[in-house]
Amino acid sequence: MTGKKPIVMSGIRPTGYLHLGNYFGAIRNYVRMQDEFECFFMVADLHSLTTHPDTKELKSNVQRVLAENIACGLDTEKAALYCQSHVFETSELYLYLNMLAYKGELEKTATFKEKVRLQPDNSNAGLLTYPVLQAADIILHRASLVPVGKDQEQHLEMARNFVNRFNHRYGNVFPEPVAFNYNDQLIKVPSLDGAGKMSKSENQMSTLYLADSNDLIRKKVMKAKTDTGPTTPNANKPNYIENIFLLMKLVSQQEVINKFEQDYNNCTIRYGDMKKQLAEDMVEFISPIREKVEGILSNEAYLKQVMETGAEKARKSAKATMEVVRKSMGLKYF
Ligand code: TRP
Repeated sequence: MTGKKPIVMSGIRPTGYLHLGNYFGAIRNYVRMQDEFECFFMVADLHSLTTHPDTKELKSNVQRVLAENIACGLDTEKAALYCQSHVFETSELYLYLNMLAYKGELEKTATFKEKVRLQPDNSNAGLLTYPVLQAADIILHRASLVPVGKDQEQHLEMARNFVNRFNHRYGNVFPEPVAFNYNDQLIKVPSLDGAGKMSKSENQMSTLYLADSNDLIRKKVMKAKTDTGPTTPNANKPNYIENIFLLMKLVSQQEVINKFEQDYNNCTIRYGDMKKQLAEDMVEFISPIREKVEGILSNEAYLKQVMETGAEKARKSAKATMEVVRKSMGLKYF
């Protein structure tokens, strides 16, 4: 039955290339969710204007995000995959929600303070009201489940506050959105330099991107930090070695992992061999995705059709919500 499944909504900023951390931390779960829920996945192109006013590369960035998500398994028949700027209703709801958002709470948002620090010459009002726009994205579809990482918790809490204020003032229109993740998805994808996670902004040589060539993948993996190996049997693994095993667990066969575990435990491990194996398994994992992305990007007609289909689905849901919103707010005079 349609309309009975819980509604999932999330946004992806069109900045930079997706990496292995994005794949295992987010996209893979979207692919699972599209079978279980009614899903809206949005490219947050309007949000990107708060930090990237120069739009020369916006189109190609938006196309890349769409292509990468589809290549990873998002199905535009199952989920609505769309661009924020194609759904004009978002801007209308954003305006109404702005009247329910207080200057004080917006100013003390962690991401706002951080961005003002990073771009002191452009602390624009869009940056201040970034969480309001995000709340509009979510509640426009009356979504209740929002798959996001820890860094977005504060924005979600603010969205719940706006929802409660709206419902209290104008009647019960919106459900409260909550962060939603599968329990088994808390996989950390470590970076190749032994410090932290793979990330868009940090050292590009220690992050594997879905767009990396086979040679670049090999080069990055072979540069991963190791040492001369354990000298006592069954020793604890240093962090950077544990990370190589963790990466192997994402892409390699179980018996391959078992072999290197054994070699480690009896002090015969050769890290050069282990990294060669990991590099080849990474190539095998990433290269089909990369090739699919390239195929999609070279097909403008297909991308246009993807955007049109997505916009149509998203606007249908948005229009229905906005009818209710205007009516409950008393903005219907005849
Ligand atoms: N702010 C989110 C981020 O930085 C992106 C985003 C925009 C989003 N709108 C959203 C996430 C709605 C979840 C729901 O990643």
